[in-house]
Amino acid sequence: MAANKKIILTGDRPTGRLHVGHYVGSLRRRVELQNSGNYDEIYIMIADAQALTDNARNPEKVRENIIEVALDYLSVGLDPEKSTLFIQSQVPELTELSFYYMNLVTVPRLQRNPTVKAELQMRDFSSGGGIPVGFFTYPISQAADITAFQATVVPVGEDQEPMLEQCREIVRSFNGTYGETLVEPQIMLPDNAACLRLPGIDGRAKMSKSLDNCIYLAEKPEDIKKKIMSMFTDPGHLRVEDPGKTEGNPVFIYLEAFSRPEYFAEFCPDYQNLDEMKAHYERGGLGDVKVKKFLNACLQAELEPIRKRREEFQKDIGYVYEVLHKGSIVAEKKAAETLSMVKRAMRIDYFNDEELIRAQSEKYSQ
Ligand code: TRP
Repeated sequence: MAANKKIILTGDRPTGRLHVGHYVGSLRRRVELQNSGNYDEIYIMIADAQALTDNARNPEKVRENIIEVALDYLSVGLDPEKSTLFIQSQVPELTELSFYYMNLVTVPRLQRNPTVKAELQMRDFSSGGGIPVGFFTYPISQAADITAFQATVVPVGEDQEPMLEQCREIVRSFNGTYGETLVEPQIMLPDNAACLRLPGIDGRAKMSKSLDNCIYLAEKPEDIKKKIMSMFTDPGHLRVEDPGKTEGNPVFIYLEAFSRPEYFAEFCPDYQNLDEMKAHYERGGLGDVKVKKFLNACLQAELEPIRKRREEFQKDIGYVYEVLHKGSIVAEKKAAETLSMVKRAMRIDYFNDEELIRAQSEKYSQ
């Protein structure tokens, strides 16, 4: 087993461009972890095979979004020199691991997975005659993704908690059955409640492409502004002088996630920090337009360097695919090491098992 190495694995399904919910929920953290120098290995995966579990009839969508997600990764500052960026389907060992892990998980256990349950409510598989087996079992394949890289830490959003729990159960079950082989990973969640689950601009619980309530990382400056100025706020705050609610108010939740003290000094010097601004809103006398303008300034400041970097990478798409290709080769090597440990532990490494050949020979020589 990889003794005490600190290894990160995480990833995203390529079903659309990444948005600011992904950014505060996970991408920003990944870049910090990458640059902290505290990790021995970092793997960032574009989960195309997982995306295909509910897009089997629409592979073009997945195929096209691989480059979008890769561009988003590079533009937020993930650095191929420090982090291995790769494509899930190019590492066939992951599929093989999944197949063996499937024997350690029961159907009722999968049916209890709250994330899968919620996703099933949002999707309609009835036209295809029911839930695809691949979709139903994707938590198992996710355990393969994590364990293949011997990840110790998995930085993800809160919605991935059940996946991590499932993974840890598989690790314990595997190690209990076949001997200590796999590493049990820890989840790493965002430390700020606003970042844990950034609501949509419409105030709904989650930013999601299908709800059309996202601000994308690559969004144009004028569209960012339009979206923010149209944002849902406290519906009881009708006149400027009315007291307003900041709790549960998406504009203030976004400010929790994006504002920094230096942005107050630069864009809204009436307040030193968010607490002062909130207090004014709550006692009345602070209008939504002013708050939204400040939020717009913060977001523009955060997103501009990202958009600029993206524009640079967009000029050399060949380079981006090369990064993914090289990363996939590195990733496959690591996954192959784990797979061979797994097969040894399960004793299905027949051709490397001299003891097996000896024992069988002996049996037949009597
Ligand atoms: N389920 C994740 C998502 O939808 C993507 C993913 C696949 C993942 N495998 C993973 C995340 C392993 C963390 C670890 O975004």
